[in-house]
Amino acid sequence: MLTRERKELRNEHRGIEVMPDILDGAAEKLRDGEPADLGHLDGMTEFLSVFADTCHHGKEEEFLFPGLEAAGIPNDGGPIGVMLSEHRKGLECIAGMKRGIEAMKAGDREGITLFAENAGEYTALLRQHIQKEDNVLLVMAEQRLDAAKDEELFREFEKLEEERIGKGKHEEFHALLDRLRETYTG
Ligand SMILES: [Fe+2]
Ligand SMILES: [Fe+2]
Repeated sequence: MLTRERKELRNEHRGIEVMPDILDGAAEKLRDGEPADLGHLDGMTEFLSVFADTCHHGKEEEFLFPGLEAAGIPNDGGPIGVMLSEHRKGLECIAGMKRGIEAMKAGDREGITLFAENAGEYTALLRQHIQKEDNVLLVMAEQRLDAAKDEELFREFEKLEEERIGKGKHEEFHALLDRLRETYTG
């Protein structure tokens, strides 16, 4: 049975995994010489910083991973350590995309390359990261965590969401994602 806590993480993965297609589409348009919609590009990096990193990775790093570690799943040299290093790598790519956008705002065309390269690296990283979490880590959670722990994690997730991004923000991000998807994919 899928508990509320794992369902929430899997649902967030379904949202976050739309972003690689959007980023690929945006990078392609820029490389083709189409004028950059800087508001859209800011929206993409905001989604990644706030929804994917602060909110989703926060839930994993502060609550799910420690719970799994306590249940005997190794961090250093094990699956949790790999997930953590991929989160850090993702943050570097987001920072690179932001630097690219700032350069574009300043009229520097080098910004396009900087954005596109970091976006490409991020999409490759993210696609396989989500696969591993869905197929390995969350399956381990299913096997190792009991119902009481699942409920505790779910409550922590709700609290984190309210404190860090605020009520209603989650829905706003989904609406943003839908708008970007229409423009950049398909
Ligand atoms: Fe993750
Ligand atoms: Fe995740």
